[in-house]
Amino acid sequence: MIILIGGEKGGTGKTTIATNLSAMRALDGRDVLLIDTDPQGSANYWAQSRDDVSITPRVACIQKFGKGLPKEVQDLSGRYDDIIIDAGGRDSIELRSALVVVEKVFIPIQPSQFDIWTLNQMDELVETAKGFNPDIQANVIISRSSTNPSVHESEETGKLLDDFSNLGLANVTIRDRIAYRKAAKDGLAVIELKPKDQKAISEMNDLYKEVFGNE
Ligand SMILES: Nc1ncnc2c1ncn2[C@@H]1O[C@H](COP(=O)(O)OP(=O)(O)OP(=O)(O)O)[C@@H](O)[C@H]1O
Ligand SMILES: [Mg+2]
Repeated sequence: MIILIGGEKGGTGKTTIATNLSAMRALDGRDVLLIDTDPQGSANYWAQSRDDVSITPRVACIQKFGKGLPKEVQDLSGRYDDIIIDAGGRDSIELRSALVVVEKVFIPIQPSQFDIWTLNQMDELVETAKGFNPDIQANVIISRSSTNPSVHESEETGKLLDDFSNLGLANVTIRDRIAYRKAAKDGLAVIELKPKDQKAISEMNDLYKEVFGNE
């Protein structure tokens, strides 16, 4: 499957989700390629730090910028079972061009009004992409949500998504947990981190199932 984790807001957890899903896919025995299209190179650093200490399975990662991305993805799609594209948190040629070749795009947002406002533009980008890629599925993931049970911001944010005709809402909410930061620092996915954070593992497993289904 070819998926994109993208959005126009910075720091929402895109790279965290892209790297976790990549490692989990590799742990499932799939040949996965992570494509880092963000000049900041965080996904690439993550894969590099896995390699530096020989963490297995290895996650193949390349950096690719510019408008040649769709062609590159099409060429590489025959060589890998899955391609996961991580885009930077802004409108970019990489974000727009990736939308033309992916089966699914996931848009992490934090449950804040500032993040929700950026969805207008994403809704339009998906609408435009549908001209070339009519079957694309676009889902928002509420990410970095509070772990405090009395805070209901995820549900409130979810309701606002009804306003966007091209965007659905993922069933899973990813919460703000220290385990994600710890794992990232060592080039790991949360399912590889010790000691285990069972809640983080469980929500990432749910997201994994939602993204890849039985594939
Ligand atoms: N669910 C989470 N819980 C706790 N910390 C998180 C979570 N998701 C991301 N972070 C932390 O928040 C910061 C930003 O995350 P990340 O780099 O994944 O976001 P991004 O959307 O890729 O950002 P950018 O737009 O700059 O590419 C990082 O320090 C990361 O470790
Ligand atoms: Mg990122």
